[in-house]
Formats: sequence, C-alpha cells, structure tokens
Amino acid sequence: MEKPSDQPPQVNSQSPPKDCSGATSFEWPVQDNLVSLQKMRDQARGGGGTKRVEQQHARGKLTARERVNLLLDEGSFEEFDVLKAGRGGHLGGEKEHLSDGVITGHGTIDGREIFLFSQDFTVIGGSLGEAHSEKIGKVMDHAVRVGAPFIGLNDSGGARIQEGVDSLAAYGQIFNRNVMSSGVIPQISAIMGPCAGGAVYSPAMTDFTFMVGNSSYMFVTGPNVVKTIIHQDISFEDLGGAGVHSSKSGVAHFVLPNDILCIREIRRLINYLPSNNMQKPPFLDLRDPLDRKDPALNYLVPVNPNQPYDMKVLINSVLDGAEFLEVQSHFARNLIVGFGRLGGQTIGLIANQPAVLAGVLDSNASVKGARFVRFCDAFNVPLICFVDVPGFMPGPEQEHGGIIRHGAKLLYAFIEASVPRITVIVRKAYGGAYIVMNSKHIGADINYAWPTAEIAVLGPRGAAEVIYRKEIQSSADPMAALTEKEDYYRKTFANPFLAAKRGYIDDVIFPQDTRGRLIRSLQFLEGKHVKKPTRKHGNIPL
Ligand code: HXC
Repeated sequence: MEKPSDQPPQVNSQSPPKDCSGATSFEWPVQDNLVSLQKMRDQARGGGGTKRVEQQHARGKLTARERVNLLLDEGSFEEFDVLKAGRGGHLGGEKEHLSDGVITGHGTIDGREIFLFSQDFTVIGGSLGEAHSEKIGKVMDHAVRVGAPFIGLNDSGGARIQEGVDSLAAYGQIFNRNVMSSGVIPQISAIMGPCAGGAVYSPAMTDFTFMVGNSSYMFVTGPNVVKTIIHQDISFEDLGGAGVHSSKSGVAHFVLPNDILCIREIRRLINYLPSNNMQKPPFLDLRDPLDRKDPALNYLVPVNPNQPYDMKVLINSVLDGAEFLEVQSHFARNLIVGFGRLGGQTIGLIANQPAVLAGVLDSNASVKGARFVRFCDAFNVPLICFVDVPGFMPGPEQEHGGIIRHGAKLLYAFIEASVPRITVIVRKAYGGAYIVMNSKHIGADINYAWPTAEIAVLGPRGAAEVIYRKEIQSSADPMAALTEKEDYYRKTFANPFLAAKRGYIDDVIFPQDTRGRLIRSLQFLEGKHVKKPTRKHGNIPL
C-alpha cells in the first residue's frame, strides 16, 4: 500500500539517508531496493508515457490519476497494487506494465471512505486483463467488508485481446462482485471514454451510471459490427454516446459536459447516500426552517384542470435550500426522480411532471421510477411522492411495448418498499395510476391531498361518456348534455373529500404547509420497522 505525496521522496544512491539519531538508517542492499522501488513507482505512475498522456489531454480527457485526485479529498488517496504487473498475453512479446492499466485504492469524499478504480487508457487502451481485474476485485471486496461505496471510473478498450479467454473470465469475476454487492453498498460507474462489448454490463449493474458528453460511449456492438451485420452507417456518438444513453435508452443517470464536472457531480451524489445498507444517509443541516411556509404554492395549480404547470416549483419550494439532485433528468421526463433533503434528512422524491405528456405514466417512466424506488428502499432513503397523474398512457405502442409488465414494476417496487413512504396528491390521481403512485392501498404510511386533488376512477369527461352514454345520445343536444354530466361528475368525484371521508387520505392540507407536514411525518416515521416474510427473493416482473 502506498501513501503518495506530491513530493516523492528523494532517493540518492550516493548518500544513504540518516535516521533521527544521525546514524545511517539502511544497509546498502536495502538502499538499492529503495532506489528500485522509487523507479518502479515512477514507471507505474507514468502510465503509457508522455505522448499517450498528451493524446489523452488532447481529447479533452483527464488521466486516470488526475481523475482520482479530483474525486477524493486532497491527500486522502491510499493506492494498492502499484507494483502488480500484467500477465503479458498469449501472442508473445507483449510488454509487462506495472499497475496493468488501472489505478485502485481508497480515500475519502468529504471525510467518508470510498473505494475506487480508475482505468488508464494510456496503458494498452485501459484494456482489462487478469491482473487488472484482480486489482479491481480486491478493492470491491474491501468495500463490501468495511461497508463503503464503490466507484469505478471506466476508460477502456474492453477485454484485453492478447489475454484471450482469461480476460473474459476476468470480467466474470467483476460481474459476480457487482451482483453480490448490490443492495449492500452503493455502486457508482462513470464512463469517461470507451466502454464496449460485454464490458458495459458491469456499469449497467451498478446503481448509477455517469457519462461525459462527447468523450464517452457505450455499446454492446460497435459501428463496424452494425455496418457488417445490418448494413447501417452510424457514428459512435449516435450509437452509444452520452446524449443517446441519457435521453433514449435510459442507461445513463447523469450526463456532464466534461471530466471535471462529472467528478464533482459524483461527489455531490455520494453526499446524499449512506455508506452501506445498515446505515442511514448522512444528515446535513442546511439551516432551512422546518416549518417554513410558501404561500405561492396555494396558487401553483391552475384553475383549468387541463393546463400544465411545472412540478419542479413544488419540489424546489419544499426541499431544504431548494437543493434537488435530479436522476435521469433527460429520460422519461414525465416522471421526476431524485434526491433532496427535508429537515436535513435525505429523501428520494418521485413526482409526476404535468408539464411533460400531462404527467402520464408510460413504460419508460414506470421503469425509471421502479429502479429509483428500489435503490431508495435498499439504502434506507425515505420516499416522498407528489402525484398529478391522469392515468397510464393509452395506445398500441405502449400496450405492445409491455406497459403491463413495466407498470407492474413500479407497483411492485412501491409495495415492496419498507422505508417511510409519504404521498401528496396535488391534482389528478385517476384509476390504476392513482393506486400505483404510492397510494394508501399499497402501503404508503401517510397520504396527504391538496384541496385541488381529483381522486377518482376516471377523468370527468371519460367517466361521463361511459356512465351517461345512453342519456347523452338520446339528448337533443348531446354536446351540452355531455358538458352538463361532466360538470356534475367533477363536482361529485373530482375532489379529495370523498377519499378523505373514507380515510384513504390522512388529511387535506393547505399547499403552503406542505414542507412542514412532510417533515413532521418523516420525524415520527423514523423508527418505522416492517417485518417481511421469509423467502429467497420475490419475483419482480422484470
Ligand atoms: C488490447 C487494446 C484494446 C483491447 C485498445 N487497445 N483496445 N489492446 N485489447 N481490447 C490498444 C490499442 O491496440 C492501442 O495500442 C491502444 O490500446 C489505444 O487504442 P487505439 O485504437 O489507438 O485508440 P482509439 O483510436 O481511441 O480507439 C479506441 C477503441 C479501439 C475504439 C477502444 O482501440 C478499439 O476498437 N479497441 C478494441 C475494442 C474491442 O473490440 N474490445 C473488445 C470488446 S468485447 P497501441 O500500442 O497501438 O497504442 C469485450 C468483451 C467483454 O470487451 C466481455 C465481458 C463478458
């Protein structure tokens, strides 16, 4: 284990160092070893050499070591296996590289321990061979044993071709550890260069994946294979760049324009998370009054029920210091998920976004929400849910795309979650989507509604068309009859009071009081404990 400093010790083979008594510290052979050690460290630290480092910088990328130094608190990095050498390969004549193209070790982020690896693209393209993988495996094992988050900075050409099947086996060892660590310690991946082939599956199994715009890409098969097999021309960026994975595939949870901002964002995320599943997330007092009221919220919901508004106004209003770390902000934007704090405590927020597709639940939104809910539940993060949902997205595209399976994931994830669960129904809460969005009926602890809430089986027009169809059709003026029935239905059902009478809503609250009510509920739910039946594991509809 090496503790680096900016100033490496000066080893002079002509004048051995003295200890504090003035006596010579070492015999000459030991001194020789000191010289060798320094040389080996320098060699390892130099990576693939000045030219390749310059190439890395020319592409707008930091080196593996620069990334580590930026990620960790200054001077906290303790490196392992600097001297571990690559196995060479089966082709003959391959050069042996100390450190084998990856930096591994541990250090702190704002004083909390984390373990990491950082692949060095300047050494054999950061490709992963046996020794490289063993180094990563060692820090992953330490992370689980001590209960600390694990962060992987990926910049690699994938399996080292010269090591053949050994490098594939090596990936298997990492995949195994990803799965065994899942739900035990937070695992975070940053893609800061290539990540191709089966190598993508390690980041995909971690909890959060970051990508850097214009310099990172992920795909199972690259543009050349695409061209050969399906005769389609496509660029690296269009096939698997950060833009595609943040907005279309949902693979990337965070996208940042460069390495520096990416690393800062990882540090920010870590600050919301506990170190392991036996701990609570770190408490941080932002000095925001617990009972702060926001009268503007009383006017957030428009009078016209079909008019959109921005749910982020409510989110920013209630959270401590208006600080919200949104996850997957470009993917399935009709559902907002992310982390914030209430009274200093980390919470996971899930909210329909009426400003996008009227906040409807579709397949992508369901999967996005389900994965986030499961992360929060695994790591003791209470769930807060803001509801304004007109229903599930209709149409053959969604039905044939499996909205039944995907919607079931969100339902399953909420029901399974045993962390404190609080819901505020802001406006629409219709049909199955009402149930799925953390309703009382699926185990939420506290359910509030604003006076503007509409809780019913169907929206007023759809409901009137079904239940008054004969009357409307036989009327002299069917449109006027429909409007009349719609108004009648709205007055009767499209409010929170029927649900409150039945006890499905714990209280209809004034919007301005939302923050204070949430914090009080979180305080009393702190000791919540749920006993679950013994089983190997449930069978979530994947
Ligand atoms: C050995 C590799 C390598 C690899 C790159 N290099 N990838 N060496 N095994 N997988 C070496 C190159 O030979 C080169 O060495 C140096 O790294 C830099 O690579 P360049 O090609 O010069 O860089 P660049 O032009 O930026 O292209 C990067 C790249 C390309 C797109 C990643 O190198 C590439 O296509 N590599 C192969 C990718 C691949 O097919 N990997 C296997 C994927 S399958 P020199 O000495 O010339 O500088 C996989 C399976 C995982 O990973 C299975 C898990 C179950």
